[in-house]
Amino acid sequence: MTANLTIRKLRAGYGGVHVLHGIDLDVPAGQLTVVVGPNGAGKSTLLKTLSGLMPHEGEVRYCGAPLPASPAGIVKAGLAHVPEGRLLFAQMTVEDNLELGAYLRPAAERGERMENVFDLFPKLRARRRQLAGTMSGGEQQMLAVGRALMGQPQLLMLDETSLGLAPKMVDELLAIVRRVCDEGVTVLLVEQNVGKALAVGDRAYVMERGRVVMQGSAREVLESEHLRAAYLGVHAAPAAIAA
Ligand SMILES: Nc1ncnc2c1ncn2[C@@H]1O[C@H](COP(=O)(O)OP(=O)(O)OP(=O)(O)O)[C@@H](O)[C@H]1O
Ligand SMILES: [Mg+2]
Repeated sequence: MTANLTIRKLRAGYGGVHVLHGIDLDVPAGQLTVVVGPNGAGKSTLLKTLSGLMPHEGEVRYCGAPLPASPAGIVKAGLAHVPEGRLLFAQMTVEDNLELGAYLRPAAERGERMENVFDLFPKLRARRRQLAGTMSGGEQQMLAVGRALMGQPQLLMLDETSLGLAPKMVDELLAIVRRVCDEGVTVLLVEQNVGKALAVGDRAYVMERGRVVMQGSAREVLESEHLRAAYLGVHAAPAAIAA
């Protein structure tokens, strides 16, 4: 069954202080859902909650059933989370990092999975024997996404995967994320590159101070006054210049 996450009245926090104040959010199967918002809005906390790393209140249903309670159960159910920071094994090769992403899959499948990942990220194929820690920032981000894909997830959650990358690299990575989605993986993408993320997304949510303040199609959100003023620094449509 394809992924479909339904989140209702989700509350979570740290040491008794709430950071998420009742989030309602849907991640439709087969779509690319984008979450944007300022620093500290609770975006990473949301993804951590969805991967079972945070105690929480409220309801999270995945494909109609309650989300499993443990992080391992959630991975087995088909959710993969690429957290902020790459968390690769720096002293291991690209290939070995990818292998680790498939530890729950039968060994016989791994070669084929790796070829699929190399098709998506040809740069990783060329560098398969290089130590992960010696790869460029962009290559490491791609490896982190590739490793998550090795587990053949149904739902891929990406947290600021394009952070610190040059604009061309951001474009390349987001295009690959779009392709992954088009090939059948549901994606929940948290991004600081607001304009670019909304340009590749299907649906979008804006989070501020632990709440959803706007939602709609990615295009609606991208074209909204609030988004343009608060995130893109565009205050009004430019006045026509008389010839
Ligand atoms: N481990 C933690 N302990 C205590 N407070 C935390 C912890 N992690 C995050 N917070 C707090 O929770 C709030 C939300 O943080 P979160 O990392 O979810 O925001 P974010 O939207 O991902 O921000 P950014 O865009 O900077 O990554 C912030 O006020 C942050 O200081
Ligand atoms: Mg974050």
